[in-house]
Amino acid sequence: MEFKEVVKNRYSCKNFKADAVEPEKIEAILAAGRLAPTAKNLQEQHIYVVQSEDMLAKIDELTPCRYHAPAVLVVAFDKNNVFTYPGGKRDSGVEDATIVATHMILAAENEGVDSCWVNFFDPDKAAETLGLPENEEVLMLMDLGYAAEGAGPLANHDSRKPLDETVTYL
Ligand SMILES: Cc1cc2nc3c(=O)[nH]c(=O)nc-3n(C[C@H](O)[C@H](O)[C@H](O)COP(=O)(O)O)c2cc1C
Repeated sequence: MEFKEVVKNRYSCKNFKADAVEPEKIEAILAAGRLAPTAKNLQEQHIYVVQSEDMLAKIDELTPCRYHAPAVLVVAFDKNNVFTYPGGKRDSGVEDATIVATHMILAAENEGVDSCWVNFFDPDKAAETLGLPENEEVLMLMDLGYAAEGAGPLANHDSRKPLDETVTYL
């Protein structure tokens, strides 16, 4: 798919049908995440692919936002392997994992797989429930699957501020 189409067509799917996502599509999505840039090339992300009934039930304990997706990617990062920027206020963990997740959500669209970015959960509870190692923090959950019949972008999907409200040429 043309990049412009990928970016334009992606939307947050909030109702999935049961059909599984093909393994080769999951692999393509993960491969796009692998190519994401990270600060100092630390690649501190850790992606968990959740597809079993048992583990999907655990996701449902964490958030109401799985929307029946048959696959969920848990995007985490190693808190002990981040780059702290000058000034010491911020480090790379959250943003590196966000870039990885963004690559993957666009790759999903490119593969014809619908998705939803989910942050409505407690990251500490998520790490505990999913049995993650202590050094990992969960950034986001990515629902993946195929839209149920009648599902589609929400009414506000096309509502974006004009560029002159969010961009300034200096
Ligand atoms: C950082 C972030 C967190 C989000 N968390 C949730 C969430 O927890 N549950 C949900 O249903 N949608 C969530 N969304 C989806 C947004 O509601 C959606 O992207 C936004 O309304 C714009 O709609 P669109 O993605 O269809 O363009 C999240 C999106 C982002 C970028």
